[in-house]
Amino acid sequence: MAPRKIIIDTDPGQDDAVAILLALASPEEINVLGVTAVAGNVPLPLTQKNARIVCELAGKPDTLVFAGCDAPLVRKLVTAEHVHGKTGLDGPQMADPTMPLQDQHAVDYIIETLRGHDAGTVTLCPLGPLTNIATAFNKAPDIIEKVQEIVLMGGAYFQVGNITPAAEFNIYVDPEAAKIVFDSGVPIVVMPLDVTHKALTTRARVNAFRAMGTKVGDMVAAWTNFFERFDKEKYGSEGAPLHDPCVIAYLIQPELFIGRHVNVEIETSSELTLGMTVADWWRVTDRAPNAMFMGGLDANGFFALLADRLARL
Ligand code: RIB
Ligand code: CA
Repeated sequence: MAPRKIIIDTDPGQDDAVAILLALASPEEINVLGVTAVAGNVPLPLTQKNARIVCELAGKPDTLVFAGCDAPLVRKLVTAEHVHGKTGLDGPQMADPTMPLQDQHAVDYIIETLRGHDAGTVTLCPLGPLTNIATAFNKAPDIIEKVQEIVLMGGAYFQVGNITPAAEFNIYVDPEAAKIVFDSGVPIVVMPLDVTHKALTTRARVNAFRAMGTKVGDMVAAWTNFFERFDKEKYGSEGAPLHDPCVIAYLIQPELFIGRHVNVEIETSSELTLGMTVADWWRVTDRAPNAMFMGGLDANGFFALLADRLARL
């Protein structure tokens, strides 16, 4: 089967970085057409720089990296340095990238790419706030029906919020953008905190990264060592939840995940629950299902896949 053509839309972030590495290490299954950066964990100048750092770390300096939106559609940007550090990739020392940033705006690249490929052959993989995707849909509504699928990290139901009591970060930062995407009619697969909180970098798993004896293994171990302290303090969890790599692992081994096709609405007006993903998990409404909302993960299988692929880089 031909590798799946994807655009990774991202706000690196240590977990975004691992997701990008996993995608670039899996050419049999995934053809990364481009990487589009968005403001999120840290401001855009850093997310576009970090995306290039990670592509170079993967040994893929020819990857096309674009800068996109530097602020949400209508709200002020909220960032997450308290989780990811000032640079967004805190943990190890990282040299500045030498590979170029593409001149084209990420939104125009997304539009041009979807228009340039056969309908239903390009998958969008948002790993941060949905600002770039929603802006592209607003600017060029004709591309919406051309999207094969959106596989995104965001939201929560049983796990509720990680940035507010009710909302997950990616959706909270730009709830208006999330509403546009969830209302678009594009087939959506959601990796919410309900599943990503099961992808924890335990000591044994971090040691397995370090035992690779490669620069990639050392970087991933150092990133997770830094990134885990937020979740360990907040949830008492055993390690860092590898949120974004769940999106890429799904493209490679969907059988690692289990979920339900349900209706998911986005709260955009209540200040109390702004950005909440109201998933009708128990189907108590007659609202039409619009997303495959994941809840279960074979965590050992996920980390076995991750270790196998990262060892290739
Ligand atoms: O809530 C977790 C999500 O927010 C992840 O994508 C992480 O990288 C941050 O963007
Ligand atoms: Ca992210």
